[in-house]
Amino acid sequence: MKNYEIEAAWQYHDGTKHPNGSFLNKTHTYHPAKRPTPYKTYKNAAQIKLLLDEQSSTISALDAISDSTKSEYTNIIPDIKMLSSILFFSGGITKTLKFPSLGEIEFRAASCTGALYHIEIYVVCSDIPRLAAGVYHFNPQNLSLTVLRKGDYRKILANATANEPFTSTAPVMLIFTDIFSRNAVKYQAREYRHAFWDCGTILSNSLAVSNTKRVPYKLIMSFVDSEVNSLLGLDAKKEAALAILSLGHSDQELPTSPPLSDISETEPIEHDMDLDTINAIHESSSLTNQQEVFSWRKQIVQKTHQKDAKPIKNMENTFVKENLETIILRRGSTRRFSHDSISLEQIYTILNRSANGIISDFEEENINDIYLISNAVDGLEQGSYFYNKEYRSLEILQKGKFRDVSGHLGLDQNLSYDASVTIFFMTDLQNILERFGNRGYRVAQLDASIMGGRMYLASYALHIGATGLTFYDDEVTEFFLPHASKKSTMFMIAMGKKVKKS
Ligand SMILES: Cc1cc2nc3c(=O)[nH]c(=O)nc-3n(C[C@H](O)[C@H](O)[C@H](O)COP(=O)(O)O)c2cc1C
Repeated sequence: MKNYEIEAAWQYHDGTKHPNGSFLNKTHTYHPAKRPTPYKTYKNAAQIKLLLDEQSSTISALDAISDSTKSEYTNIIPDIKMLSSILFFSGGITKTLKFPSLGEIEFRAASCTGALYHIEIYVVCSDIPRLAAGVYHFNPQNLSLTVLRKGDYRKILANATANEPFTSTAPVMLIFTDIFSRNAVKYQAREYRHAFWDCGTILSNSLAVSNTKRVPYKLIMSFVDSEVNSLLGLDAKKEAALAILSLGHSDQELPTSPPLSDISETEPIEHDMDLDTINAIHESSSLTNQQEVFSWRKQIVQKTHQKDAKPIKNMENTFVKENLETIILRRGSTRRFSHDSISLEQIYTILNRSANGIISDFEEENINDIYLISNAVDGLEQGSYFYNKEYRSLEILQKGKFRDVSGHLGLDQNLSYDASVTIFFMTDLQNILERFGNRGYRVAQLDASIMGGRMYLASYALHIGATGLTFYDDEVTEFFLPHASKKSTMFMIAMGKKVKKS
């Protein structure tokens, strides 16, 4: 099985490290004039206008972010308004900004490296209130669904997931795909990490909005790649499925899917670059049949519990008045942090609300650990820390003023130097790969990014700024030694107060 030839994931990971990854050409430049169109357009396909739910959510935004409402689910079959809200607040256009050199740029609900918006969302559903069964592509430009196939095709997806039980009863499934070249044009082969980073930030919004609508869900990472890609009519060398989000529950048996015929043509994907490295890691992490999917899921085991952690502080007493939708509309990556402190209560709330497990086919796993540098937090000494998820506590690793280190690790950007806190998600990659094969690389990246996306939302809920950042891989590990021994960094985020515009 190719998936268990794990040198492929190591080769990709090592080859895309900053600063010396052999797959990254140091002389590569990107000019914003080369920005590919961030929208996929189908020729001659019918479109269905989406209808946003005017009712704003009633549950606390922090509860929605942290997934703490699952026992209260009531809406089992999402209607078109719920679906529209989930799509809009995940991948919709939330603001347009004008730049002197670039003109107008449309920004989306979730952050995306380089604002290149390479993640597309598709819907596969049964008949639901006010939407007929079909396969659709979400078009954020005019908030509509493009009709790709008419009829109920869910059985193909259920089969592709080896009849994963939640997916086999879900009336709606969202599929998140990546158009490789749209982001690789700037970030070269490191784009495959970005695929999961940017899919993860979108997904954290989708999960939170589903919670506000009381729609049960499960995120699925184990599926036969080729079956999902062909349902969507994708050329998998250019665009491929990364994750499936199954929504709702229905007792009706899945009907046999209609045959797959050709779907509408699209405007060509701009594709004038070498995607060999990306194609190689994607193929090596693909699952090729139901048996592989089924045995992959059997690797999931119960969490191991650490017994010797000493909680240093456990507190959260934060009240957030705004609803989730308002927070998503307000979110935007901070472009300049002041050196003002945030509070321990705020950082504790952000950690506490973001680090919960993800309802998924890898849920029982502790995939990523969370490390932190405190530069300016009232009530928390400057230094480096490990966040113990089980005890919800911060354990000090090293006292000291590490602003320079924080700045350096975030690729010497002012953002990571000025931030009050920088956070790193780190995983024991060898252990993950041995158990899950190269597919584990996808899971490790996505798990970290969903938690990172939740941190974006929780920060904005508390009126703190945040931005994702890229990093010097090995130097992050070295800084957090010996605690982080054998761990690789999957995601970085910085937080702090924004510099007020004059
Ligand atoms: C994972 C991740 C890494 C990012 N890395 C950087 C970075 O290194 N430097 C930077 O200035 N912005 C970085 N960003 C911010 C993006 O450029 C920003 O999200 C994008 O321009 C879209 O803007 P918005 O987040 O305000 O919607 C990153 C964002 C994410 C999600």
